[in-house]
Amino acid sequence: MTDVVNTVADLRQAVVRARGSGMLIRLVPTMGALHEGHASLIRAARQDGGFVVVSVFVNPTQFGPKEDLSRYPRPFERDREVCSREGGDLIFAPPVEEVYPEGSATFVEVKGLQDVLEGASRPGHFRGVCTVVLKLFLMAGPDVAYFGQKDAQQAIVIRKMVRDLNVPVEVRVCPTVREPDGLALSSRNVYLSGVERERALCLVRALREGRDRVLAGERDGKAVRAAMEAIVAGTPGAVLDYAAVVSADSLQELTRLEGKVLLALAVRIGSTRLIDNMLLTVTERTATEIPV
Ligand code: PAJ
Repeated sequence: MTDVVNTVADLRQAVVRARGSGMLIRLVPTMGALHEGHASLIRAARQDGGFVVVSVFVNPTQFGPKEDLSRYPRPFERDREVCSREGGDLIFAPPVEEVYPEGSATFVEVKGLQDVLEGASRPGHFRGVCTVVLKLFLMAGPDVAYFGQKDAQQAIVIRKMVRDLNVPVEVRVCPTVREPDGLALSSRNVYLSGVERERALCLVRALREGRDRVLAGERDGKAVRAAMEAIVAGTPGAVLDYAAVVSADSLQELTRLEGKVLLALAVRIGSTRLIDNMLLTVTERTATEIPV
């Protein structure tokens, strides 16, 4: 079974030891409730070689006051099994006080990128994400950190933070892992009832519809967005939070599609909020889907 440490001091000791034997340090930050998506990140880290640290920490500062912090799943023993199976070397599972000691008052913000899409719907979310991710980087000192394309904006915001603050870590983004029917894996999928699980497919259907329009030559961002919105609107029990057709660099809305284009969606299915996205490279004449 993968070793578990709960304190920064123990984490640092293990990392120093691994470095001493010449290994690179790889970090996979998670909030636990590990599924195949997380497993793919651990596997990628394992394949790259070195010492693989998986952090399991449900970060309170990235949840809004009305969000699911208290009911967020915490199946720690199963998570440990997943880590072991995928070849993780160490789990860092700190209690909240270890990460945020009494009186913590310092936060990291990425202005602009943090305020749109997920940030507009979840004020303060990326402030919490960036703060905890930077802290995890400072605690573990990884050479490489692994993130999923599933949370496209998160990966973009973290890349920007790393660049802006000269954080000496390489950010690697891995493809979204999906169920055979296309539903993106998410720790929140466990909240869905049978009928909601069916309805949740409207996210991937909407993205595919948007993609197909672009592949067929549509270059008007509003038309693509409307096509995505129509799929969600036609799904009973699905409430659109946002549909967006934006530049994958600036996250600004594109009227005319060109370059790296991100199609992104957030939809409420009952009380569960799900997100998904797709990335395309678009020129005047051609368009292709990029897995990452
Ligand atoms: P969490 O939601 O647990 O996700 C941990 C990592 O797994 C993230 O990088 C996320 O993008 C990736 N991931 C989730 N579902 C995926 C899927 N279906 N395919 C591929 N990768 C997937 O994201 C967070 O935690 C937190 O915000 C965190 C970065 C840990 C900071 O608290």
